[in-house]
Amino acid sequence: MSQAEAAELFQHPDRNLAMELVRATEAAAIRATPWIGRGDKNAADGAAVDAMRKFLSTVAFSGLVVIGEGEKDDAPMLFNGEVVGNGQGPQCDIAVDPIDGTSLTASGRSHAISMIAVADRGSMLDASSVYYMKKIVTSHEGIGVVDIHRPIGENIRALAKAKGKPVDEMRVAVLDRPRHDDLIREIREAGAGTRLILDGDVASGINAARHDTRIDLCVGIGGSPEGVATACAIKALGGFMQGVLHPMDEQERERGSAAGLQFDEPYGLNDLVSSDNTFFVATGVTDGELARGVRRSGSIISTESIVLRARSGTLRRVSADHQADKWLDH
Ligand code: FBP
Repeated sequence: MSQAEAAELFQHPDRNLAMELVRATEAAAIRATPWIGRGDKNAADGAAVDAMRKFLSTVAFSGLVVIGEGEKDDAPMLFNGEVVGNGQGPQCDIAVDPIDGTSLTASGRSHAISMIAVADRGSMLDASSVYYMKKIVTSHEGIGVVDIHRPIGENIRALAKAKGKPVDEMRVAVLDRPRHDDLIREIREAGAGTRLILDGDVASGINAARHDTRIDLCVGIGGSPEGVATACAIKALGGFMQGVLHPMDEQERERGSAAGLQFDEPYGLNDLVSSDNTFFVATGVTDGELARGVRRSGSIISTESIVLRARSGTLRRVSADHQADKWLDH
């Protein structure tokens, strides 16, 4: 390898990184499994965080946690600003959510995932000072067709036309929250159907951009960290996404302004993550449309993951069988 190639590799995540990262999400999902349906979301999250942190420390990269488990004082693990990895590989930004769907996991419901997104250093929007973001996510057919500032009915009709589908076959994923009551009503008045989700708008956003799911569009207000992580996956799928930050009060708006964030103009995909060299990996914790949840059959633990890489535009499914006894004292 020439010096120039070595320098290039040091600057940008290498394609093998994705397969390294999937080990960390698999570990987090496996460790969370004993807590599925046990009613203790902090224990589930804690087990996943510990496992993810341990595996990440062995990965050959220097990952700056731009989106983590909160500020240092609130969460001692994988906090925003922490550097993870063995420090020897490329310098990256990293977004982690050891479990997206902690409540789903604790209550034993579907659609919880463990996820990591990675992009070139300095390319992820740091929106940590504003918790919520209004989002719209769909497939490539939405590019130049939908716009977050337009009424939802117009967006649904325009997207249906672009996809060559009748409006009454359109399905729109929305977090089931009182703040979305009007949005849900407008979707139904437009003639489309809703897919109400209890939690986990990262998986739903990704499903809206995939060609082989029943979801056409994912809209509504969810976490802004989840928005940036979703953007890393949407880049790899060639899909469409916009986000508008949604501060809860004047103080949050002021904090966001001081951090240089904008509130009226939407953030497009390239504003959420400017690099075209993004990776996204997720492992199912509980069963979902994105990946099957962890299963144990005798001495084998099975996991299912997806690995997305923007540079190659690929989505790979990774099924793994793990010897259960290797996990006894990991
Ligand atoms: P966690 O499991 O990490 O807590 O997040 C779940 C989630 O549903 C996200 O997918 C979503 O973006 C956010 O929470 C929505 O926030 P809220 O529950 O406050 O509406």
